[in-house]
Amino acid sequence: MKIFNAAIFILVLFYPNLSTEWPTHTVCKENNLEIYYKSCDPVQDFALSIDRCSAILTNTFNIRAAMVLRHSIKELFLSLNLIINGKSLLGYKQTLCEPKNPRFIFCGVKKGEHIYYEGPVTLGIHEIPEGEYNISLRLHNEDRLTVACADFTIKNKAKK
Ligand SMILES: *[C@@H]1O[C@H](CO)[C@@H](O)[C@H](O)[C@H]1NC(C)=O
Repeated sequence: MKIFNAAIFILVLFYPNLSTEWPTHTVCKENNLEIYYKSCDPVQDFALSIDRCSAILTNTFNIRAAMVLRHSIKELFLSLNLIINGKSLLGYKQTLCEPKNPRFIFCGVKKGEHIYYEGPVTLGIHEIPEGEYNISLRLHNEDRLTVACADFTIKNKAKK
């Protein structure tokens, strides 16, 4: 039963408490726009902030994000799923870091190091139709280990 024991060990190692849920963080809350997120990585939470909700509708806006890295990122991949008003709409994958092409300052960062990113992000969204948007985002490394995982909720309510 060696394999079985190893599986249990890994489970305990990465799921210190199976019932742990990270709190939902509010990124911003304005008149009709609200953005929340929750870490879906069982072993860690992370910090994220932007100046104003409406900033995400400008071409490029600044974010501040901080986390401790649990796994080295020689290579980093992003996968994203978008659900709008309960309907799954989009699955998206992108490579963010490759050894030959480290596109971001955090590419190549080693396990245990802190990442603090303060700088611009370009989403290219100029309008968000009314509704509820759920975005699941997962970053994993070359060994398919989760580097970060988050569920975002964006709510755009009709102006009253
Ligand atoms: C979207 O996120 C909200 C808040 O976390 C949640 O209550 C809702 O069930 C989610 N909707 C879907 C379709 O996953």
